[in-house]
Amino acid sequence: MAKIATLELDGKKYELPVVEGTENELGIDIKNLRLDTKGVVTLDPGYKNTGACESAITFLNGEKGVLRYRGYSIEELAEKANFLEVCYLLIFGELPTTDQIKKFHNDIRAQSQVDEDVKKILDGFPKSAHPMGVLSSLTSALVAFNPSSVNVDSEEDMYKAIVKILAKFPVLAAWTYRKRTGLPLDYGDDTLGYVENFLKMMFRKPNGEYKTNQTVLNALDKLLILHADHEQNCSTSTVRIVGSSHAGLFISISAGIAALWGPLHGGANQAVIEMLEAIKADGGDTKKFMAKAKDKDDPFRLMGFGHRVYKNFDPRAKIIKKAADDVLESLGIEDDILDIAKALEKEALEDPYFVDRKLYPNVDFYSGIIYRALGIPVEMFTAMFALGRLPGWIAQWREMRLNKEPIGRPRQIYVGETLREFVPVEKR
Ligand code: CMC
Repeated sequence: MAKIATLELDGKKYELPVVEGTENELGIDIKNLRLDTKGVVTLDPGYKNTGACESAITFLNGEKGVLRYRGYSIEELAEKANFLEVCYLLIFGELPTTDQIKKFHNDIRAQSQVDEDVKKILDGFPKSAHPMGVLSSLTSALVAFNPSSVNVDSEEDMYKAIVKILAKFPVLAAWTYRKRTGLPLDYGDDTLGYVENFLKMMFRKPNGEYKTNQTVLNALDKLLILHADHEQNCSTSTVRIVGSSHAGLFISISAGIAALWGPLHGGANQAVIEMLEAIKADGGDTKKFMAKAKDKDDPFRLMGFGHRVYKNFDPRAKIIKKAADDVLESLGIEDDILDIAKALEKEALEDPYFVDRKLYPNVDFYSGIIYRALGIPVEMFTAMFALGRLPGWIAQWREMRLNKEPIGRPRQIYVGETLREFVPVEKR
């Protein structure tokens, strides 16, 4: 029997339907609350208790540390799938057949050039520009070169816009890196796999051959899969809300990149390495930094720790921690930053401050150590996250459009001045 919640306000009772998800999650449907109560809204800063949509893409249970894309566990996907398959799965709902993935990849390949004039825009940025700002700008600039990607009402038009952005975004990310490091821009080799080509576009030297290192390729593929979607997080909600005005896919993603940049979200992967470096430079005293993180008068937070949803463990962090060990061993790299990270984790997991608040390492705690081992500079870490999150943003945007969701427009409770009279400047 359908569940009903009852709300009592000023002696009047309101019945609110309860929506139940396929994993038995319950949500009180307040769609008609304002209408029925003649003006009452809910207040939930940070949307900690608010479900913004019904979604069939990603399921996560923060208490149990469960993450699934379209019903498949993240552990199994990270082990058995490749990133392009996961892109397809997230966006279209099913794992692709051999023919489907072949067509999908060929369609992407066919769009993998970027207008030469985009190079002029990239050239206008200083070398020191942060890759996330550059990427967000270039992704938004792409709209000008692909105006047909804006009005996409049919599924066919959507598909075209989707393969275009999947094709061009890795080029933009690789170019952003190359510009920063002073390397000539490169198109890689699109006979290669999607991720392999990306690595080649990033790292090929103008005077040498690029040879794929299988360990590097496998590790990056896995990292991208782990980052591919995470339901209604800050950047994804941004993509959905921008897209809800029908502004277009590329510009919605450009906004998502901006949201991801912040250190409380994707920017944490850069912040973690900078924090670990700072601890090392300070003599390696992890206890001192733990004390700072616990001090309410100190703005310092243990970066890579805590999560809005995971209150037990972040399943991605578990996989990444093991991958970090494997990658460093396989590449023969010794990184004392990894030892500092492990020491910090151990201390935090035994510390009542972190235990009581259910703060565990998140996906960003160990990912930077892997990126570093793969030769990716720290300023590019969040751009790597963006590349990984791209299919998630696309899938969520597509779902929102296909479900014909209304424009996102939250309400507020006004707490400012009530009506007052204008005072001329000479009397203020
Ligand atoms: N170090 C120290 N204290 C912390 C931390 C931390 N990393 N994270 C949360 N707390 C404390 C916080 O001060 C608060 O304490 P109290 O209850 O005494 O006021 C309590 O734990 C709850 O924290 P919150 O800020 O209310 O929780 P939230 O759900 O709003 O924030 C978070 C989640 C991820 C923004 C936060 O844990 C954080 O800032 N972590 C560090 C940044 C980080 O690693 N971000 C990456 C998130 S995972 C990848 C992604 O989403 O991009």
